[in-house]
Amino acid sequence: MSDGSKPRPDGQILDHCYDGIQEYDNPLPGWWSAFFIITIVFSGFYLFWYHLGGPGKSVTEVYAADYQAYEKQRVEREAADLSSVSEASIASAAGNADMLATGKTIFTSTCATCHQPDGSGLIGPNLTDGNQLHGTTRMDIYATVRNGVPNTAMVPWGAQLKPAEVIAVSAYVVTLRNKPLPGKAAEGAPVGPFAAP
Ligand code: HEC
Repeated sequence: MSDGSKPRPDGQILDHCYDGIQEYDNPLPGWWSAFFIITIVFSGFYLFWYHLGGPGKSVTEVYAADYQAYEKQRVEREAADLSSVSEASIASAAGNADMLATGKTIFTSTCATCHQPDGSGLIGPNLTDGNQLHGTTRMDIYATVRNGVPNTAMVPWGAQLKPAEVIAVSAYVVTLRNKPLPGKAAEGAPVGPFAAP
């Protein structure tokens, strides 16, 4: 702060006067101007690097590339899952006590609201009779559980459960069939026991 009356030796008083307040015409500090010029130069490089054909990838491009890689892996993984599941592998899971215990736990927590804890049917069909709405085989049951039935309350559980869980719960459903419990009336075609795998 100067005394307010005399011009400072390093600055000239500007012409304007607002409510008696006058300003010195001091230059900007050198470091400030230098930094300002650096930001302008930097923005030119930035614009070229990311937006005008430079090698830099924008956030959107990085996301698109990552997403594509993820999609590719997902499709490959799903194909691998499907090719490793067969009529025989589900039949063998249906004879494996550990698998069935896992399947029963999942059935009780996830499926019982619609199919009843004993599978005798409520919103969803009775799974204990000898009838089937979709197909006839163990793989058909697996496919229905995994992919759901479009436009019904039966959603694709493959999107929510792990591949091994879908197999376990499907195997458990396989063991319920042909031991009819009183419950929802049979739906679909009578298919009887599963064929030997
Ligand atoms: C929100 C209700 C609901 C839940 C939860 C549900 N389902 Fe279903 N499910 C249905 C309905 C409704 C159908 C009949 C779809 C149709 O009309 O074809 C069905 C059909 C099925 C079928 C086909 C039966 C056949 O005769 O072909 C199987 C198998 C099945 N569910 C198993 C399961 C399993 C396993 C789970 C748990 C992972 C499950 N469901 C969870 C409602 C449900």
